[in-house]
Amino acid sequence: MAIREIFFADDPRLRQQAKKIKDFGPKLKKLADDMLETMHAASGVGLAGPQIGVMQRIFVAEIPEDEDDPDSGKPFVLINPEFTKLSDDIEEGQEGCLSIPGWIGLVNRHTALEVKARTVTGKRIKLKATDFLARVFQHERDHLDGILFIDYITEKEKLWQVTPEDDEEDAFEE
Ligand code: NI
Repeated sequence: MAIREIFFADDPRLRQQAKKIKDFGPKLKKLADDMLETMHAASGVGLAGPQIGVMQRIFVAEIPEDEDDPDSGKPFVLINPEFTKLSDDIEEGQEGCLSIPGWIGLVNRHTALEVKARTVTGKRIKLKATDFLARVFQHERDHLDGILFIDYITEKEKLWQVTPEDDEEDAFEE
């Protein structure tokens, strides 16, 4: 495994459409492993291909262990993800991004969703996600279409800067 460089939001690749993955060979498994390692090393909860300059429809996610949440503390790798259901319920919550370090914003997201995707070996899977994991999936899915969380923020008081010294235990970068 290897840690990859994470690109910042001013890199044009962060604004491009990623391509559907068709080759489910060993290179893809290596890419997914690198992405998980890179995300963990950066203390992030999600990472999408374009963030490391890979313009393919893949993202990884893992939310911190929480005994009340069975989806926490386990790594997800989603390839060619498509949302098949999105809840009517929408909730505003804090979001950050590894490509926009030091900034936190308030973004509306669906509170639950269903997603179909492929695994690294090409197997078709269907997953349900709620609350924080659903938020992370929506944030990462957006990266595949060149969308960043700041694009949703129209009121300037809903975006603020944090320094590493700040105790931001509720803020996560994706
Ligand atoms: Ni992000």
